Amino acid sequence: MNFYNRDFLKLLDYSEQEILYLIQLAMEFKKKKKMGKKHDYLKGKNVVLLFEKDSTRTRCAFEVGAMDLGMGVTYLGPTGSQMGKKESIKDTARVLSRMYDGIEYRGFDQAIVEELAKYSSVPVWNGLTNEFHPTQMLADIMTMYENFGSVKGRKLVFLGDARNNVGNSLMVICSKLGIDFCCCAPSELFPNSELVSQCRKFAEAQGSKILLTEDVHEGLKGASVVYTDVWVSMGEDDSLWKERIKLLTPYRVTSELMSLANEDAIFLHCLPSFHDINTKIGKEIHDKFGITEMEVTDEVFESDQSKVFDEAENRLHTIKAVMYATMKK
Ligand code: CP
Ligand code: NVA
Repeated sequence: MNFYNRDFLKLLDYSEQEILYLIQLAMEFKKKKKMGKKHDYLKGKNVVLLFEKDSTRTRCAFEVGAMDLGMGVTYLGPTGSQMGKKESIKDTARVLSRMYDGIEYRGFDQAIVEELAKYSSVPVWNGLTNEFHPTQMLADIMTMYENFGSVKGRKLVFLGDARNNVGNSLMVICSKLGIDFCCCAPSELFPNSELVSQCRKFAEAQGSKILLTEDVHEGLKGASVVYTDVWVSMGEDDSLWKERIKLLTPYRVTSELMSLANEDAIFLHCLPSFHDINTKIGKEIHDKFGITEMEVTDEVFESDQSKVFDEAENRLHTIKAVMYATMKK
């Protein structure tokens, strides 16, 4: 398996074997980290992290991952660099490639990260765009492996805004790995039909299914993984909250909904999550619309079925695996 100098932009570009290899590598890095074994295999190299949107997990996973591998790291946030304002993506890519050995990008259109990669001579990693969130997926599937030992033939149901980066990416990775994917949402929020057709081809080759349904009973039946995400994503307009709350309240992951899934089902969420009103936005939504929980109840979030913090930790190991695989000769 040779990933040297390859970009990691979306999972549509990666095969089942390649995805599984990266997850296996992440598991090895996790073991090394737990045992306190040094793994600074990329000493002397440097990476730059470009964030046009906020982040906790992705940024920290790239920073700690790079430092564990012995590398230097530069973080460029939404303000403070010339990118996009005085300097095009094409020029930014060519400048940064002369100084760094790898570039992470989080921002808006997928086309931006694709362009960055086109003009960069070093690997570019997608840390989230409006369309896709591929590094998140590796951590999610790794968490499934840790809980079930295998993933093929299991069913993952995503409830919520299924057209967002996480919903799209889950459909892609599930169909590539032979996991039944169910999008359980109002039809207005189903993923775009072109991507669905593309994924159906992968699923057919695997003998797995893609189901789009508005019915929570149908959606949750036989599910091993119940997954949700915020109802309004970064970069979307705040005016959407009202409509999304109305559309998605029936899809809030409650204990009642969890009981419709398999008894040993786990709950996953990419985070951050609005499961209480201990956040600025959570409080504002509460004051405006009177709700105390959004996509998941606090009860489910804090339950034994919830594996969200293992999932968050696995961001580190999987992102480290992606950097290592694409940078090590
Ligand atoms: N899940 C995730 O990408 O989290 P951050 O936005 O904190 O990076
Ligand atoms: N769909 C969310 C994911 C955050 C990790 C967003 O884009 O805001």
